[in-house]
Amino acid sequence: MDEKKVMLSGIQPSGELHLGNYLGPLRHWPEMIEEFDCYFFLADLHTITVRQEPAQLRRRVLTLLANYIACGLDPEKCTLFIQSHVPAHAQLGWVLDCYTMFGELSRMTQFKDKTAKHKDNINAGLFTYPALMAADILLYQPDFVPVGEDQKQHVEICRDIAERFNGLYGDVFKIPAPHIPKVGARIMSLNDPASKMSKSNLDGCVILMDKPEEVMRKFKRAVTDSDTERCVRFAPQEKPGVSNLIQIYASVTGKSFEEIETEFEGKGYGAFKPAVGEAVVETLRPIREETERLLADKAYLEHVYKAGAEKAEYVANKTLRKVYKKVGFVAR
Ligand code: TYM
Repeated sequence: MDEKKVMLSGIQPSGELHLGNYLGPLRHWPEMIEEFDCYFFLADLHTITVRQEPAQLRRRVLTLLANYIACGLDPEKCTLFIQSHVPAHAQLGWVLDCYTMFGELSRMTQFKDKTAKHKDNINAGLFTYPALMAADILLYQPDFVPVGEDQKQHVEICRDIAERFNGLYGDVFKIPAPHIPKVGARIMSLNDPASKMSKSNLDGCVILMDKPEEVMRKFKRAVTDSDTERCVRFAPQEKPGVSNLIQIYASVTGKSFEEIETEFEGKGYGAFKPAVGEAVVETLRPIREETERLLADKAYLEHVYKAGAEKAEYVANKTLRKVYKKVGFVAR
């Protein structure tokens, strides 16, 4: 029998999960666990590149784990774990730091963005972050890595690092491919359609745990475009605000852009914005309720992350041992 293909991805518990994280990558993961050998982790090592309040970070990790399960990631069918529970990530991260060039790290868009935002804390971790992300990926030898558009550059540098390493030592790492969804790969902020939806602008960002009233408020206040035509038409350059809402509506309803344009023909933005809000509320409702239920069961969550770490560690250590041997470390 053919071995299952391997898939891996992660999300930072740097804030609560938002609609961009959900519609970009996460929404597609539950269907993948049926077909692939899947690893999903909570990237807490990455999160401390920006200062965190420790108690809040601990809470966010558990909430994100509960969100994963509530979104349909059945821990019996895939491996769910916390990155810091598997030391091999930091260990391989260091090795790969030594095979990653200063110049290539300097070109990373996210590094430039984050240093502009956190001028008082431009730490070395923020700079070498893509090498740690490469380690996260390569330890599990995945065939592909499903992410949103903004992480594509990091998966590409991971491929470059892996190819460089393989060029020196033979076929150590499988070269993974990024997997970017056709719709929803770049959800924009509701109050600033020129920037991607992110936790750093909460007013334009819908959090999965937001109450329905809050979701509706954010959609009703969503910035639309100042064009005179005021019709619901997908045109990202001319009408970035409305096009973003169309993309969100298409993602949650499964309708095509044409179907949406027809549905709202002659109705204008006033009818469209609450309709998108309602569709999102109905999508998020079961996820929010299930997350709340799971968060009340700490023993279950603990069982899930412990079992996940054991499974992940077994696979990760195999790759790490191979790498240590290749670079010439003496086995203990
Ligand atoms: P993070 O935590 O910023 O985002 C998690 C995932 O959500 C996607 N995403 C979006 N998709 C669509 N629209 C948006 N507005 C939007 N915002 C975020 C991201 O592309 C990502 O897929 N470095 C990663 C975490 C990570 C990782 C990994 C991912 C660490 N190691 C290994 C994959 C494999 C990050 O910061 O994602």
